[in-house]
Amino acid sequence: MPLFSGKPVFVTGTGIHLPKRVLTNQDLEKMVDTTDEWIVERTGIRTRHIAAPGELTSDLAYAAGLEALGSAGLKPENLDMILVATNSPDTLFPGVAAKVQGKLEATRAGAADLQSGCTGCVYALAIATAGIASGLWENVLVVGAEVLSSLINWQDRNTCVLFGDGAGAMVLSSNPAGALARILSSDLRSDGTRHDLISFPGGLVENPTSPNTLEENLHSVQMKGNEVFKFVNQALPGFLRESCEKSGLEPAQIDWWIFHQANLRIIDSVLKRLQVDSSKTFVNLDKYGNTSAASVFLAFHEAYAEGKLAPSQKVLITSFGAGMTYGDIILEMQGGRHAEK
Ligand code: UT7
Repeated sequence: MPLFSGKPVFVTGTGIHLPKRVLTNQDLEKMVDTTDEWIVERTGIRTRHIAAPGELTSDLAYAAGLEALGSAGLKPENLDMILVATNSPDTLFPGVAAKVQGKLEATRAGAADLQSGCTGCVYALAIATAGIASGLWENVLVVGAEVLSSLINWQDRNTCVLFGDGAGAMVLSSNPAGALARILSSDLRSDGTRHDLISFPGGLVENPTSPNTLEENLHSVQMKGNEVFKFVNQALPGFLRESCEKSGLEPAQIDWWIFHQANLRIIDSVLKRLQVDSSKTFVNLDKYGNTSAASVFLAFHEAYAEGKLAPSQKVLITSFGAGMTYGDIILEMQGGRHAEK
């Protein structure tokens, strides 16, 4: 059963942080053989934010985390755990979460990174929820943060037009005061037989850094985009329908679908297969591109800030990515801070 038991778990705060520099499709036209028309038609992306030299994943994660803590009305010392989902850590070790913990001076908190492709965000939310529901933790900061621009081959038009940098965060708590949402259920999957579809092959155990790995461009994101597209279209609709059913819901009872912001065509075609109207989804990939493990945090935060998510509505957050992993988490919106006034 994907429904959580144990103590109820609430989302009590959210935050985001984006680097200042904006890279447009027109800028990309000058860098690779592409056009604004191709990128918009095939993906829906118009701009993305790119970190400045020296601006690290941990910097973005810290800023988003600090905003989420403020929105939850908590102090760093109230945190028991910090989880950072990322595929572009500053270094393989130490992890980003430990640096965020140090910068926040969250002196009572543990810290760990979670790397599971773009789905890391949903995995981290599920683990944080399980930790609070079981009584292990009371307050957990969950962050998705990426500086994928450092891992992209900027001569590869198949990938460089897609990704952007950014961070988003949520605070999960056992205390319902001022809660934005309550977490109801989660379902997580992986098909590791398709691990070749998205990878960053160079520089570690399989392909230690050598003149060859540099020459073959293995130190950059490699993606069989069209096969990813087909995989997601095949796997996601049935999976999402099943997760809804296991949570006692029909897809029609989900008020808002917050998808991993990878490609507008993927979102549209999955919704079509579920017979859900596209007015029930929130899209901001046009502004930010695919920010991997950060994307659903950015979308949830902005959808909430724009007043779209009303109390008692059901929200399904879903992501997919390297592994191939996929998963979802279902929330029920609460009154938030407005309810306390
Ligand atoms: O978050 C991780 C998960 N990743 C994803 O969700 C990515 C999923 N996949 C996709 O979003 C799409 O497959 C892409 C946007 C990556 C590609 O769209 P597509 O409709 O699947 O295009 P395609 O790969 O089948 O390529 C069609 C054509 C090819 O040219 P030919 O062989 O038909 O002559 C490509 O070389 O488009 C060409 N192409 C481009 N043309 C202009 C590929 N990239 C570009 C580009 N600009 N940037």
